[in-house]
Amino acid sequence: MKIAIVYASTTGNTEAMANVIKETASSNAEVVFGTADGTDAGEVLSCDVILLGSPAMGDEVLEDSMEEFYTNIESGLGGKKVGLFGSYDWGDGQWLRDWEDRARNAGASVIESLMVHLTPEADDIVKCQEWTKAAM
Ligand SMILES: Cc1cc2nc3c(=O)[nH]c(=O)nc-3n(C[C@H](O)[C@H](O)[C@H](O)COP(=O)(O)O)c2cc1C
Repeated sequence: MKIAIVYASTTGNTEAMANVIKETASSNAEVVFGTADGTDAGEVLSCDVILLGSPAMGDEVLEDSMEEFYTNIESGLGGKKVGLFGSYDWGDGQWLRDWEDRARNAGASVIESLMVHLTPEADDIVKCQEWTKAAM
């Protein structure tokens, strides 16, 4: 199985989630891993499972580089298994619900999203590990 993990992060919180997800996935999959502004869209779309991370930014929107990356791959997501994750602070997860809707409208099979309040603590790290295993 080939799995893509692509993320954006402004202060390292979503990056910390992405690193745990990568470590967990690496045990039994080939992993394509990188940032939204440094990963090849075609390589990501060659994967069976695509996990994308962005913090809640602006007013419940994606971080800019992920918005741009996601827009690039969106039309190729039909039939893919997609999981969305990210860190937030004061909201209630609207950015992830909106993102799920977009991915579903693109024809992806979208798993339940994973959100962590600010920096992942020990229990959040366990959640990231379990979420990754369920996504594979
Ligand atoms: C400019 C800016 C806008 C933000 N907008 C939201 C928001 O709409 N909803 C929310 O829950 N958190 C919001 N946050 C908080 C971030 O999502 C939170 O700090 C998150 O942990 C950042 O993750 P990162 O380190 O991966 O970038 C915002 C933070 C900044 C700096």
